[in-house]
Amino acid sequence: MMHFQAGSYLLCLLANLYFISLCNYASGTTGSSSVLIIIRDQANDYHHKLATAKKAELDTQIKAENLNAKVILMHEEYPVEGAWTILPVLPDIARKYADEFKWFMFIEEGTAVDIKQLTTSFLTKHDPSAFKLLCRCLHDNSPTIIHHFAFVNKAIKKFKYPDFDAGWIWSTALLQKVAFNLTPETLESDFQIDTKHEIAMWLEEHHDLKVTCVKELCGGGENKKSCVTKFDKFLPDCGDKVTLDDVLVSVKTTLMFHKDRVPVVQKTWGKYVQNIRYYSNVTDLTIPTMDCGVPNTVSGHCGKMEKIILDAYETSYDWLVIADDDSIIGVSKLLKLLNCYDPNRIIVLGERYGFGLLSGYGYGYITGGGGMVMSRAAVRAWKNKGCHCPAIDSPDDMFLGQCFSLVVGVPVTHSPLFHQARPDDYADGYLGNQEPISFHKHWEVDPYEVYADWFAQEDKAMFAAPNVKPTEAPEPQVIPIPPTPTENQIKDEL
Ligand SMILES: *[C@@H]1O[C@H](CO)[C@@H](O)[C@H](O)[C@H]1NC(C)=O
Repeated sequence: MMHFQAGSYLLCLLANLYFISLCNYASGTTGSSSVLIIIRDQANDYHHKLATAKKAELDTQIKAENLNAKVILMHEEYPVEGAWTILPVLPDIARKYADEFKWFMFIEEGTAVDIKQLTTSFLTKHDPSAFKLLCRCLHDNSPTIIHHFAFVNKAIKKFKYPDFDAGWIWSTALLQKVAFNLTPETLESDFQIDTKHEIAMWLEEHHDLKVTCVKELCGGGENKKSCVTKFDKFLPDCGDKVTLDDVLVSVKTTLMFHKDRVPVVQKTWGKYVQNIRYYSNVTDLTIPTMDCGVPNTVSGHCGKMEKIILDAYETSYDWLVIADDDSIIGVSKLLKLLNCYDPNRIIVLGERYGFGLLSGYGYGYITGGGGMVMSRAAVRAWKNKGCHCPAIDSPDDMFLGQCFSLVVGVPVTHSPLFHQARPDDYADGYLGNQEPISFHKHWEVDPYEVYADWFAQEDKAMFAAPNVKPTEAPEPQVIPIPPTPTENQIKDEL
């Protein structure tokens, strides 16, 4: 999809470019504009259901007012894994739809849109033949690992990037310019961490474009009359069937962290979890940790993760949560979310990153620090489809994603409520759109405070009588380790 496949496509694009530059502006003043709305949906049942309902609701608006708009589901139109990173699908969107629409709006499954207001009073104020990306703007307050510490020495707050939750809108001119110039060389990035920031950086670098901040695209529960989109802070309400009995939490640790990180888990979120296991390289019955038979590795813990999954295979829990010893989790919020998913379907859930997706060969994976959730069916699939770590120090989260994407054939499912980094690493405007379920890392933060600020109240309310007695660790047993470590270590220290 990355490559320009046919000469006719180029011709078509060229024609479009000239057509647009000649004709579009005039028709921008006719009192209503046209928009293609693309919902960034996912294949997973639950998310597909949400996106389908969103599309139906938007279609009803369009029909009722006879508006010049159309709604498509990204995943249906582009059933390839990298579609969520946006750039790879732009040439195709431009080819198919640039004739028909003046504006191209991407929304999330939870974004509310007033299409009438959007097309008749908001977009008519803007020029679709100018290179424009209209959005609610986010900015970082300090350099953050998730943005590769960009702007260490510059005015970081001045760099704006779009809030996807509020919807973000490309002019047809910008879409076509970008699509026309998209080549594999311009998409060289290996890792996809935070698409909204990466796209803004990319547009500035390759097209000298700064996003246009508009107040009509709204998030964070804003409810002004001028808002044509809205995004409410929410934790989905899917019932309350899932209890702690249904969940096994396995924490990866090592001797070095028995005294500092593990006590934090035990005094915060871990104290509520009945079925919690600490997988270490040393047995310490005072915690208790168990020597899981896999030697400690400095980075990449695939061997330990595999042991965790194979142990879970021997149990009947609906859900396996694999956490780091410096993960900070809102247990009650996690339980609530799990009600939305079917443990009998193959699901690997958490915050999705991507590797190599822009180049069309990669896969998505759940970044480990925010917690990796596996359904019972996913645990079974790991073993039954023969996934096996290439080396004990392969990057565990990446290999898990690779296994499910390339071997099992079910890519991971993204929930923006899980977080690989600390609260301060995310834009305020972004966190203001959601009820987070996890954060990660103790670096330069007080993890007790993070837990208290974000999770303690809800956990206390849900688990009035905390069960502080951890279950017995299973018999330690050694798994055979493949003798020769293979290549594979290209992971960012993220
Ligand atoms: C366990 O891991 C620690 C690092 O956390 C290391 O220093 C220690 O030597 C390891 N012990 C054993 C018995 O493998």
